[in-house]
Amino acid sequence: MDRIAVTGGFALKGSLPISGAKNAALPLMCAGLLTESALTLSNLPHLADISTLKSLLEGHGAETKIEDEGKKLGEGQIISFTTPAITNTTAPYDIVRKMRASILVLGPLLARTGEATVSLPGGCAIGNRPIDLHLKGFEAMGANIELEEGYVRAVAPGGRLKGGTVVFPTVSVGATENILMAATLAEGTTVIENAAREPEIADLASCLIAMGANITGIGTRTLTVEGVDKLHGTEYSVMSDRIEAGSYAIAAAMTRGELELVGENLLEVMTGTVGALHEAGIEFTETDQGVIAKLASDKIKGINVTTQPFPGFPTDMQAQVMAMMTICDSASVINETIFENRFMHVPELTRMGADITMHGSTAIVRGVDQLLGAPVMATDLRASMSLVLAGLVADRQTFVNRIYHLDRGYERLVEKLQNVGAKITRDSGMGI
Ligand code: EPZ
Repeated sequence: MDRIAVTGGFALKGSLPISGAKNAALPLMCAGLLTESALTLSNLPHLADISTLKSLLEGHGAETKIEDEGKKLGEGQIISFTTPAITNTTAPYDIVRKMRASILVLGPLLARTGEATVSLPGGCAIGNRPIDLHLKGFEAMGANIELEEGYVRAVAPGGRLKGGTVVFPTVSVGATENILMAATLAEGTTVIENAAREPEIADLASCLIAMGANITGIGTRTLTVEGVDKLHGTEYSVMSDRIEAGSYAIAAAMTRGELELVGENLLEVMTGTVGALHEAGIEFTETDQGVIAKLASDKIKGINVTTQPFPGFPTDMQAQVMAMMTICDSASVINETIFENRFMHVPELTRMGADITMHGSTAIVRGVDQLLGAPVMATDLRASMSLVLAGLVADRQTFVNRIYHLDRGYERLVEKLQNVGAKITRDSGMGI
């Protein structure tokens, strides 16, 4: 299995292009199932998850065409998705288990055909991640839901969902996206209470409106959708990846460098992250291409963060902030409230000399002067990035193994970092 080798001690300097957001691109691609005409998405990142979902959508009848491969670093792909008819309403276990976001075909399939059979996603490294909120939402819209042999079988009586009121007891990004997509073609009005407010949902809603959907309340806790009979295609550009941007801002600060992150509206979409990073001592200066990130002084200040749904501090930045806190000038308290097992990076960072004490879902991180290079193991997407960040400042070399996790969410990471001065390579490695 591939690994990354990184030699620490080099300040990162220069411009680094931020790619399209994985977590916006995935639901946007599923929205293509809602219409028989072409949905053309641009700024799609070159990521494993995008390829996996593209194959899954083709299995449901989507005809895809890569209009532009986007070869330049940071330049996204342009792909059109045309689904004249849904040819298969089943999403198979072997794809869904690899990528949880596949569950986002459930709403569009149900809305377009009145039925869907989707494998339960199963858990993943960071937690159990059930889909009960998705299913309760569809039931509130009149769907009959049955579970059989690890699959969800959803049927809309009469072939069409009915508008209803969906109240989420806890905030769920995916459930909000699934119900939102389904509601666009339901008969009548759907009100989604306690909706997630992540920028990726606003991106999805904006695209659905461009396709003819009738949605109000974007960015608030209550979304109202007047169902329509049909949606048409459109052209839409995926928003910039706020988590990738936050991750590289931390890389600039940790290495005492300065990076211009090139992308659209980065400070705006990085709400929730910018506050915490600013408190840690990172300053952001807007430019006409994006934003410059660097440490305001020579010290990283210890901060206390608790992960929350947007606009709070994002759980997808928790592992990366922890890497930064391992070399802060004092101590930091990091509390993870979204996922039950999102601390798999802790033992690996500890092997690099970090001083981290765990108390349930809270990590106490005491800053050390120097991390030590070591062979470490990536366990999930954001944990992998935290190990690369640690490797950028550790002494000697760090080998990050099983970096297929990174390929899911960080487009051309090695190239992007090499271009700004990192001593980083990728090889087949011994694979451990
Ligand atoms: C999305 O996952 C993101 N993935 C995740 O990013 C992100 O961490 C998460 O939202 C939270 O922001 C994509 O957008 C593809 P949730 P999602 O439903 O939708 C529980 C990354 O690193 N829950 O908001 O699956 C769930 O177990 C990935 O890019 C239920 O209990 O997250 C979790 O504890 C990781 N029942 C919490 O809610 C449900 O039906 C939040 O999950 C659904 C969720």
